[in-house]
Amino acid sequence: MLAIRLVVDPDGIDALALPVRPVEGAADGEPQVVPVETGLAVPTEIVTEVDALLPQVEHTGAAGVVYRSIRPVQTPSRLLLVGIGTGDEAAWRAAGAAVYRAGTRESSITIAMPADVEPAAVRGLAEGLWLASYRFRMPDQPAPTGDGAPVLGEVLLAVTDPAPYEAALAIARATAEATRFARDLTNTPSSLKSPQWFAEQVAAAAAHHEGLTVGVREPEQLAAEGFGGILAVGSGSARGPRLVEISWRPANAQTHVVLVGKGITFDTGGISIKPREAMKLMRKDMGGAAAVVAATIGAAALRLPVQITALAPLAENMVSGSAFRPGDVIRHYGGLTSETTNSDAEGRLVLADAMAYAVDRLAPDLLIDLATLTGANAVALGKRTAALYSDSDELAEAVLAATTEAGEKAWRLPLAADYVEYLGSELADLYSAPTQGAGSVLAALYLREFTGKLRDRWVHIDMSAPSWAEGDAGELTKGATGWGVRTLLRYLGQLSEAG
Ligand code: BES
Ligand code: MN
Ligand code: ZN
Repeated sequence: MLAIRLVVDPDGIDALALPVRPVEGAADGEPQVVPVETGLAVPTEIVTEVDALLPQVEHTGAAGVVYRSIRPVQTPSRLLLVGIGTGDEAAWRAAGAAVYRAGTRESSITIAMPADVEPAAVRGLAEGLWLASYRFRMPDQPAPTGDGAPVLGEVLLAVTDPAPYEAALAIARATAEATRFARDLTNTPSSLKSPQWFAEQVAAAAAHHEGLTVGVREPEQLAAEGFGGILAVGSGSARGPRLVEISWRPANAQTHVVLVGKGITFDTGGISIKPREAMKLMRKDMGGAAAVVAATIGAAALRLPVQITALAPLAENMVSGSAFRPGDVIRHYGGLTSETTNSDAEGRLVLADAMAYAVDRLAPDLLIDLATLTGANAVALGKRTAALYSDSDELAEAVLAATTEAGEKAWRLPLAADYVEYLGSELADLYSAPTQGAGSVLAALYLREFTGKLRDRWVHIDMSAPSWAEGDAGELTKGATGWGVRTLLRYLGQLSEAG
C-alpha cells in the first residue's frame, strides 16, 4: 500500500500539492478560487506563481479537481493545485482520490495541509488516496512496469503537529486495508475462489491480528447441524460449501453485533440458469461475505470495543446432476422450510440458515446482513445505491447515517406488509422467490422470517448494485468496490463510542 506519513518539516520536496478552495459569493473581478493557508510556510515566489496560475487554468476549487504544473528548472519541480471544495471529510476523500490519479507519475508528493485542519480531513484524504490507488492483481501477476505504470510510492502530509492526526490516519489505514481485502476477495476469479479458498483467505488474514478466532464448518458438520439451505445451494458444485464464523471478542464490549454476508462464490443461477450476460460477472456474488469478514478484521485492527461475529455462508451455485431443483423443499437451520421456486434465488437460502443460527446460538444485540441479493436493487435505485431495510427506524437511521459519512450510498425501502402474503407456500413455510411483488423487497421480507426475536434489531442491505464499479471513479476502482466495509466500520466505531 502507498506510504502516507505525517511530517513536520519536509525537505527536498519534489512535487508540492497546495490546497485551493472556491470563494463563496466572490464579486466580479475578485478571485473565484484562492489558495488555502497552510501550516507549511510556502515561499513567496510560489504564492505569486499560484495566484497567476489559478485564473488562467480556470480551476474551480471543487473537490476532485487537480491541476498539475511542471517547473522543469525549479524546486519543487511540480506543483499540484488541489481543489478541496467545502473542506469536509467527503471533499477531502475526493481530493485524495484526485491527487492519486493526477500524481501517479510522481514518486513522492508532499501535501501542504491547511493550518488547523480537522483530523477528519486527514482521514478522508488518506482513504481517498488508499482506495483510489488499489489495483487488483492475480496472485502470480507481477506489478506493471514501464511507461504509464504508476510510480507514486509515498505521500507526505505536512502539518505543524502530527499528534492530533495519528488516530485519524490509523483509522483510515485499517478502513482502507479492510476495503482492499474485500475488493481482492471479490475480484478473484471463481476458478480460484471456491468456498474452501475463501475460508482459507479469511483464516490467513485473521492470523495477522491478535484476538480473532475463525471457525469453518465443512459439509459433514453442516449436515449434522441442519444447515439445509447452504447444503442445497452447494449441492451442484464439485467444491463443497462452507460456513465461516469469525469473531472478535474484546474484554470491554457492551454490545454483540452479528454480521451475515452472502457468500456465493459463483452464481450460475443453478437449474434456473442465468442468461449469458447476466452470469458473466457472478464471481462477485460473495461481496456481502467479503464485506462482513473484512469489516470484522478491520474492527480487530482498530481494537474496537464491540463484540462482533461475522458469518459467511459460502456455496457455489452450479448446474449439475446433483444440483437442487426448482420446487424442492429444503429445511433450514432451526426447522423453517422453503419451497425453492427458482434456484437463482439462492442467496436468501444460505442467508436464512446463517441468520437462524445467529439468532438461536449467538444471542446478538443486533443483526446486520449484507448481500448481493437481487438485480432489482439496481432497477429501483441505479448502480451506486444499496437498498436498506429495517423494522427499526432508529437502527435504519443510524446505519444510513454511517453510510453517508463513510462515503457509501444506501436508500431505505419498505418491508411492505401487503407483500407478505406472497411468501405463502402450500408445501413449505415459505416460497423462496414469489413471482409477485417487488424483487428486492420480497427478498427482504423472506429473510425477516429468519430473524426470530431479533426482528426489530435487524438491518438488511441489498448491495448488489454498488458492489461493482464499471470504471474508476473517485475512490472507486473498476471492479469490486468493497461496498459495506466502510459503512460497517463507521457504524461499529460509533457504537463503541456510544456504548
Ligand atoms: N446474485 C443474484 C443477484 C444479482 C444480480 C447480484 C445482479 C448482482 C448483480 C441473485 O442470486 C439472483 O439471481 N437474484 C434473482 C432473484 C430472483 C430469481 C427472485 C434476480 O435478481 O433476478
Ligand atoms: Mn442467483
Ligand atoms: Zn446470487
